[in-house]
Amino acid sequence: MSARILDGKKIASDIRQEVVGEIVAMAVRGIRPGLAVVLVGHNPASEIYVRGKVKACAEVRIYSEQHAPAETSTTADVCALINDLNRRDEIDGILVQLPLPTQIDAKRVLMAVDPAKDVDGFHPLNVGFLSTQRPGLVPCTPAGVMEILKRSQIPVAGQHAVIVGRSDIVGKPAAMLLLNANATVTVCHSKTRDLSRVCSQADILVAAIGRAGLITRDFVKPGATVIDVGMNKITGNSEFQRLFSGDSEREETFRKKGSVLVGDVHPEVAQVAGALTPVPGGVGPLTIAMLMYNTVKAAKMRRGSGQGLVASGQQIGG
Ligand code: GUN
Repeated sequence: MSARILDGKKIASDIRQEVVGEIVAMAVRGIRPGLAVVLVGHNPASEIYVRGKVKACAEVRIYSEQHAPAETSTTADVCALINDLNRRDEIDGILVQLPLPTQIDAKRVLMAVDPAKDVDGFHPLNVGFLSTQRPGLVPCTPAGVMEILKRSQIPVAGQHAVIVGRSDIVGKPAAMLLLNANATVTVCHSKTRDLSRVCSQADILVAAIGRAGLITRDFVKPGATVIDVGMNKITGNSEFQRLFSGDSEREETFRKKGSVLVGDVHPEVAQVAGALTPVPGGVGPLTIAMLMYNTVKAAKMRRGSGQGLVASGQQIGG
């Protein structure tokens, strides 16, 4: 048996098209949604992510601007910038790329963002809205996971969803969204005993721990849906062999570039899972699509034209 591969690129592209439709309709009313992206310092991975986000804005016609405070900035410096962005009417969304340099109090910075402009959904007010099933802005990656499930017609209600990882960015909000969608939810983490046994009870397994190929075939119930949120760069040969021995296509990439990307799910899981998101091309593209969606949603909410986007006759996002 070989898992059905869930095409995140296609789903993300569909959502982006729906978002463009909304933006065109707003343009008729003279409104252009605007996103400010704040990247403090020079984290190479963050620089790549931010470039992708800014590029996507241009593609869907969202106004965007990038702010790059120095690596040595203080919490007060970054909060002052955010306050400035909070006050500007043409800015609908504010995204502070994480992680922040260690001298900065990330919790204070995230709390400084106006909740109405909090397109990452990290402000405690939006976290509270999500956990009490009120409308608000929902973190992009978990919202993308839900869109993949919904648009792939994978039922959630009554299913046992197991999430590996309890981060504020992915694990916890994914647990809330799945719970709100009537799944029975188990959240696992680094201290969970007998992780493979717990995971093997899942109908839907969400891997978001940042450990390359941790989820091997013995973690997966035959036929289960496996959503791989991991994004790990492999540079060592023995690690490469553990994950990809015999995969000639990836071997060539590894030889040429000196690295390959792998999720938290071992490639052998494709032989047992019923459905699986690939890395790359699974959840990743959804994160950006949902950021575009959230920016338009924030613009509509703030500028007083109702909540949520209605696309293809159905409400998308949280
Ligand atoms: N760093 C890793 N993922 C994310 C994300 O979804 N949003 C932000 N702002 N930073 C991140």
